[in-house]
Amino acid sequence: MYDDNPTLAGIKKEIDESRQGEAFYQDQQAGTGLDEGRLFYIESYGCQMNFSDSEIVASILAEAGYNPTRELEAASLILINTCSIREKAEETVRKRLRLFNQLKRQRPGTLVGVLGCMAERLKKKLLEEEKLVDLVIGPDAYRDLPALIQNAEDGEKGINVLLSREETYADISPLRLGSNGVTAFISIMRGCDNMCSFCVVPFTRGRERSRNAFSILAEAQSLYDNGYREVTLLGQNVDSYKWENPESGQAVTFAQLLVMVAQLDPNLRVRFSTSHPKDITDEVLFAMSQYENICNYIHLPVQSGNSRILELMNRTYSREWYMNKVRRIYEIIPDCAISSDIITGFCSETEAEHQDTLSMIEFANYSMSYMFFYSERPGTLAARKYPDDVPMKIKKRRLQEVIELQTQVSYQHNLADIGKTFQVLIEGDSKRSAEAFKGRNPQNKMIVFPKADGLKPGDYVWVKINEATSATLKGEIVEINGDG
Ligand code: 5AD
Ligand code: SF4
Repeated sequence: MYDDNPTLAGIKKEIDESRQGEAFYQDQQAGTGLDEGRLFYIESYGCQMNFSDSEIVASILAEAGYNPTRELEAASLILINTCSIREKAEETVRKRLRLFNQLKRQRPGTLVGVLGCMAERLKKKLLEEEKLVDLVIGPDAYRDLPALIQNAEDGEKGINVLLSREETYADISPLRLGSNGVTAFISIMRGCDNMCSFCVVPFTRGRERSRNAFSILAEAQSLYDNGYREVTLLGQNVDSYKWENPESGQAVTFAQLLVMVAQLDPNLRVRFSTSHPKDITDEVLFAMSQYENICNYIHLPVQSGNSRILELMNRTYSREWYMNKVRRIYEIIPDCAISSDIITGFCSETEAEHQDTLSMIEFANYSMSYMFFYSERPGTLAARKYPDDVPMKIKKRRLQEVIELQTQVSYQHNLADIGKTFQVLIEGDSKRSAEAFKGRNPQNKMIVFPKADGLKPGDYVWVKINEATSATLKGEIVEINGDG
């Protein structure tokens, strides 16, 4: 989920929804006896991983005696967890930092900290040249936050942008920020070793490392025991998860981890994101088809539908190879929904190559896609090797074409669901009406339906679909099956 695509109202909406969850509110902590004088406010941008990291940061700060607040003005520590994936994402953060700085002038003593990818990318530039912040902390340095805050309070600037080969925050129990109490993210690995030529992530998040499988299982179990009914296993490239048990020497693969989490309880839904097409295995697909509670949905970013561009992108698969992967998925899991990430106007992309991306959307029949125009990022392979030579106007026009086609394909995908009945996990009230619930089916589609007595978030119901737009399904409850 990314926050800087101006053309996608749907995505914006999703992000606005998750923004509501930015802070674990003070009022929910009544009675914890924590010192209310030290309040922190945290805002998150970018991918799900960042939102998940903010929950780790919140937990570290809570341990150190800080209390979260959703009131920006009430906080003595303001943190912003940032994204560098596209230029626009960084611009948004800079705007926020300028606003925080104004606040700081009105309230001397307030500390402002930048976390995440921008901190890692810009390092001390943010402290020195731009003088916008007091603290700069990279994604692997969050344990150092309390000490750095102390330094900053003593008038020093606090910075730690060291990347680690080991840090997975395995032992930290995330503080669920503004959670709906039903669905949660579990980070299973960090970093990325893939080196897609357009991508800054390997530089900002460092080398790939997998988290202890037992700590993942314990976190999932604890969520379940606390009423959660869905976990999403998160990583930049989940299919290359591999954790070696130091005691037995045995390695746990992603497929094995998925099955272990699914076996915790049939009423715990399991999702995962993101899959790299080159790494997703048949074992994972078989696990999905075998376990009812592993949701039939795969986010399988294609990036481009053209083999020459894919090669320049260093994606390590061709158009045909990707198409075979899609065929395999539908063969093993016929009702699987597949979604994608798409970049338009990558270096030297021709009109005919752009057409290949359009035809891929139809071939793969994506239920939805996150779509972007190419944004050159300093230091990446592409920035060093290829001129960013597709004019902005053309990049944007191609993006518009991709969006229009995807909207049609999504609409057809949703129309095909009319008359079908899905198991839906209730997540809460629909945004538009307190008389209706919203929840997702296994294919990750949001479904809105009228409430029935005795039901609450976290319950499962069977919903028959009778209306569709390109973004949502509407239906009615035909059967109630609570969990347990
Ligand atoms: N420009 C545009 N989009 C990008 N992405 C990653 N890097 C860039 C870039 N430089 C997109 C990819 C990736 C998603 C998370 O963001 O589609 O899958
Ligand atoms: Fe970036 Fe590619 Fe790694 Fe995804 S798989 S984070 S696009 S380098």
